[in-house]
Amino acid sequence: MYILGISCFYHDAAASLLKDGEIVAAAQEERFTRKKHDDSFPTQAINYCFKEAGIDISQVDYIGFYDKPLLKFERILESYIDNFPKSWRAFIAAMSVWLSKKLWIKEVIKNKLQYRGEIYFINHHLSHAASSFLVSPFDTSAILTVDAVGEWATATFGIGRGKDIKILKEINWPHSLGMLYSAFTYYLGFRVNDAEYKVMGAAPYGKPVYTDLIKKELIDIKEDGSFKLNLDYFEYPYGFRMVNKKFENLFGEPRRTPESKIEQRHWDLAASIQEVTNEITIKMANHLYRETGLKNICLAGGVALNCVSNSKILNNSPFENIFIQPAAGDAGGALGVALYIDNAVLGNDRKIQWEHSFWGPSFSNEKVKEFLDKKGLEYHQFDNETLVKKVAQLIAKQKVVGWFQGRMEWGPRALGNRSIIADARNKENWRKVNLKIKFRESFRPFAPTVLEEKSEDYFEIPKGVLGRKTPTSYMLLIAKVKEEKRKEIPAVTHIDGTARLQTISREQNPLYYDLIKEFDKITGCPVIINTSFNVRGEPIIHSPEDAYNCFMKTGMDCLVINNFLLLK
Ligand SMILES: [Fe+2]
Repeated sequence: MYILGISCFYHDAAASLLKDGEIVAAAQEERFTRKKHDDSFPTQAINYCFKEAGIDISQVDYIGFYDKPLLKFERILESYIDNFPKSWRAFIAAMSVWLSKKLWIKEVIKNKLQYRGEIYFINHHLSHAASSFLVSPFDTSAILTVDAVGEWATATFGIGRGKDIKILKEINWPHSLGMLYSAFTYYLGFRVNDAEYKVMGAAPYGKPVYTDLIKKELIDIKEDGSFKLNLDYFEYPYGFRMVNKKFENLFGEPRRTPESKIEQRHWDLAASIQEVTNEITIKMANHLYRETGLKNICLAGGVALNCVSNSKILNNSPFENIFIQPAAGDAGGALGVALYIDNAVLGNDRKIQWEHSFWGPSFSNEKVKEFLDKKGLEYHQFDNETLVKKVAQLIAKQKVVGWFQGRMEWGPRALGNRSIIADARNKENWRKVNLKIKFRESFRPFAPTVLEEKSEDYFEIPKGVLGRKTPTSYMLLIAKVKEEKRKEIPAVTHIDGTARLQTISREQNPLYYDLIKEFDKITGCPVIINTSFNVRGEPIIHSPEDAYNCFMKTGMDCLVINNFLLLK
């Protein structure tokens, strides 16, 4: 039985395909169209899923969509009516999109895919919850979902038992932690729904001096983690901007012009909103613990990509075990809805325990060779054993390597199949990779990949979260770099002494593991820099051609595609 899950028309469109309860494929549309956060109908991602499974639409038994468009439309209408007349411009813009496509998703799916079967529309936060809990290692778990907004809910508190998920309580629009964080992202001159990571990365450079002001003026936080925003300061419920003049006056200056100098007050604002976010999510988690008494927690929704607040939850609540599916944002809804149909609606047994994220397209050596030959490029071909030796030596010689292998990652992080890798011992690599290769802001930190068995020599990892079924394998938690190791791996140690680590075991990704193991053999260091294979503003690469294009337009030294090595 095949179930296709779809998410689209908000941000991060994606598709996933289940066969008899197992994942066959999952991918985000942006990787194919090369348009970052592409929200359009995921035609290419769906076609890829079918190709991977060797099926066509006639073999699909059910299709699921990751939210309920009518409820969403109702929320948008009410929101604009409540704010009329100041909402009229945004209202007209929204209506044209809603009336032309968003309201007709059933028809869009049927027409685009020539599909005549059943389509389920599952609540947005239920899709988020399902995307995490139903692939978690837990039979029973508390579930917390937090994002910008679904239909009405912006956060939910729930419980998962076996095949079923129950939502116990929700926080509703326009009160939204995701929107609050994005409002600061906007005010700090970054792109909303894209650069929230930059705010998180900027926070450790500042002091949270605005926390009290935020809590006094912008948000009223209750002990159970619920909250009310003071809507006098925000424009997002009715306009095109996130915040209004009053918000700017509160912090003394207009929005930072994008790309202009980041000043101390900007770092401080980032630190402050991160601190407020931590406080809310910790309170939410503790409330959920009091309500459920369970020792496991699953997180989902865009805010669950904030690895700093994820770690705060783990360290400041009684939960012992935490699980986060790596595509925690809206793309993950495409997986969540398919799982929900399979397990909760149809009652089939859960079959998946998350062990890796490699659910995207791969390219055979024949295809890669054909591409390289057609381009007339010079290359060396090695077997796996020789390849890892050569590449480990190149990294040790301070070369920056584009590393393309096997199936593309699902979720926003590159985890060793579409990665740019370099020596973490050399601080200069931080500057080089940021400025000459990724063309991004110099303050942004890099994540390390570390051999799992040696990870505790370098990082203070909380008990019970190590391994491929846990968030440490997917860059979803931060860990303190041990004091005595900070000088050894400066390129991945953030200014506050933490790192957003990825631990790797051989079961998870043999070739990538062997590469780091070989690097460790040569240098005595089991840690490398791992950053996604793309440049600023573009999605992570998908094909050998994308890899080659990125290689040529950046200061990258070497490119590895499967068993082929190209040097500049
Ligand atoms: Fe969402």
